[in-house]
Amino acid sequence: MSQYNNLVFEKNDCIGVLTINRPKVLNALNRETMTELKDLVEKIAFDKDVAVVVITGSGDKSFVAGADISEMRNMSALDAREWGKFSQAVFNSIENLPQPVIAAVNGYALGGGCELAMSCDIRLASEKAKFGQPEVLLGVVPGFAGTQRLPRLIGKGRAKELLFTGDQIGAEEAYRLGLVNRVVPADQLVTVAMEMAKKIMSRGPVAVQLCKAAVNEGLDMDFESGQAYEAEVFGLCFATADQKEGMTAFVEKRKAQFLGK
Ligand code: CAA
Repeated sequence: MSQYNNLVFEKNDCIGVLTINRPKVLNALNRETMTELKDLVEKIAFDKDVAVVVITGSGDKSFVAGADISEMRNMSALDAREWGKFSQAVFNSIENLPQPVIAAVNGYALGGGCELAMSCDIRLASEKAKFGQPEVLLGVVPGFAGTQRLPRLIGKGRAKELLFTGDQIGAEEAYRLGLVNRVVPADQLVTVAMEMAKKIMSRGPVAVQLCKAAVNEGLDMDFESGQAYEAEVFGLCFATADQKEGMTAFVEKRKAQFLGK
């Protein structure tokens, strides 16, 4: 795996741990980091040694404190539009990774940081985490799909309150709003994320990936089309060795040994 200036990627028993690593600026996302992220995510998508991805931030203070304001400050309108489109595409590629992606939110998840967390499948938050879309304090709107993913996750009214006020909320409030799946003590965040990753990895790998695809694809369709998509992938499962093994193991009262095919 290539070396990156602003990312660390380590594989640990088929769990890929991706750390955004610019701690001096609270892991703010500049163009170089986003370009590295694009490259790494493309590689992970085809990496058979990565079954689950965990994304976190370096240091104990911040997950990602947003897009890099110093770099954006003097962008022209057209440059900002391209920066937004490029970054949206990078986050889409995270959302559409075949493998499940868990955000381990260890601190500030503001602006582009909250948007990054929302492009992951599951969000675990340290009790110290803080979430928000503070772009209006800077005179801009969120540019990495925050206006689209936040209302889809927590509902239109609650999303608009966060978007219009730019307020930061703590982990418990984020949990109450449905923005995070679980709040855990700061020193246990990575352990809990790894345990969740291991549990997911012990299930039928093809089925897990198809579940992800069915949810992601189905949410962009009307209900009937989503059901039709589900029926197709349900059928597809019966052409896999994992389905034979999973159901045979149940009948034989033993633990399934999945092959991921
Ligand atoms: N971009 C660039 N640098 C940033 C940054 C960002 N988003 N967030 C923090 N930093 C830098 C600070 O400038 C500071 O650098 P120096 O040491 O060189 O001064 C360093 O990180 C540490 O930050 P603070 O001293 O501000 O730390 P703090 O503990 O006092 O405050 C904070 C922490 C509340 C997160 C504060 O840093 C902050 O408000 N950051 C900006 C948050 C923000 O507005 N994010 C949205 C960005 S816009 C965006 O993301 C648009 C989009 O949708 C794409």
